[in-house]
Amino acid sequence: LREHEEFTKVKNIAKIELGRYEIDTWYFSPFPSEYNDTPKLFFCEFCLSFMKRKEQLQRHMKKCDLKHPPGDEIYRSGTLSMFEVDGKKNKVYGQNLCYLAKLFLDHKTLYYDVDLFLFYVLCECDDRGCHIVGYFSKEKHSEESYNLACILTLPPYQRKGYGKFLISFSYELSKKEGKVGTPERPLSDLGLLSYRGYWTRVLLEILKKHKGNISIKELSDMTAIKTDDILSTLQALDLIQYRKGQHVICADPKVLDRHLKAAGRGGLEVDVSKLIWTPYK
Ligand code: ACO
Ligand code: ZN
Repeated sequence: LREHEEFTKVKNIAKIELGRYEIDTWYFSPFPSEYNDTPKLFFCEFCLSFMKRKEQLQRHMKKCDLKHPPGDEIYRSGTLSMFEVDGKKNKVYGQNLCYLAKLFLDHKTLYYDVDLFLFYVLCECDDRGCHIVGYFSKEKHSEESYNLACILTLPPYQRKGYGKFLISFSYELSKKEGKVGTPERPLSDLGLLSYRGYWTRVLLEILKKHKGNISIKELSDMTAIKTDDILSTLQALDLIQYRKGQHVICADPKVLDRHLKAAGRGGLEVDVSKLIWTPYK
């Protein structure tokens, strides 16, 4: 993986048009130089090709035959679908998605090596097609047990529970692999808030139902959350005591209820029975 210093550079694209949305961008993204200092870039919401002029997009839409991301639909529940896109098989799509995502991700490396990644693209579907809401990327093979590299909910869709859905989905994939996982660091402020919220809710719900003692290792086996992340979450909630050289979870039901109330909305649930997926080999 190569390190880049894009985040120190000045924002180059002010706005994008994507589907029915016009979106103000947040950060610099290393588009090919001919796109620099374009006031607004026009994206095809299906193949994610980008163009400088509206007329080009209109012409493109007449001939673009995609109505959803390329790759396999691995989840559908109601109007929500998830597509798995292999960066090696769909290189241009993977690169376009990275260019788009970098507009909203600050301290993140941009991967030109999309071959090494799978992209999980979340869509809201209607009779016009499947409209991209957000995504996360995942290395095909991670030495560090990362189960997610980058996560994004596009701004018009933020704060509606899609982020927690994507996070939850990444852990469901880890459970199917029989592995624990953790997001790649560094996390952005919003990324940390979303993960903290997810970890807190998942762990509190188990502790509330569980009778008797439970160890951090057992929690990790049940949730696919890495033990470090469990420890830091429970420590932040003040549910950990250190006794005789060991971390012990102290979960008074009243305290759990108080934390659960504060943990906010559960968000959109992943219905595991609707996930049709086998791990990448
Ligand atoms: N202000 C305060 N809290 C927030 C905000 C906000 N603007 N946005 C999210 N949160 C917190 C809240 O606790 C929220 O839960 P709540 O609504 O129940 O209170 C929780 O995060 C998750 O909210 P969701 O609606 O599920 O998440 P969303 O769809 O907005 O997506 C995400 C979260 C993906 C982090 C989004 O903010 C985003 O795309 N940001 C830009 C890109 C980014 O920073 N990605 C993470 C980088 S780290 C990495 O990729 C490993
Ligand atoms: Zn297209």
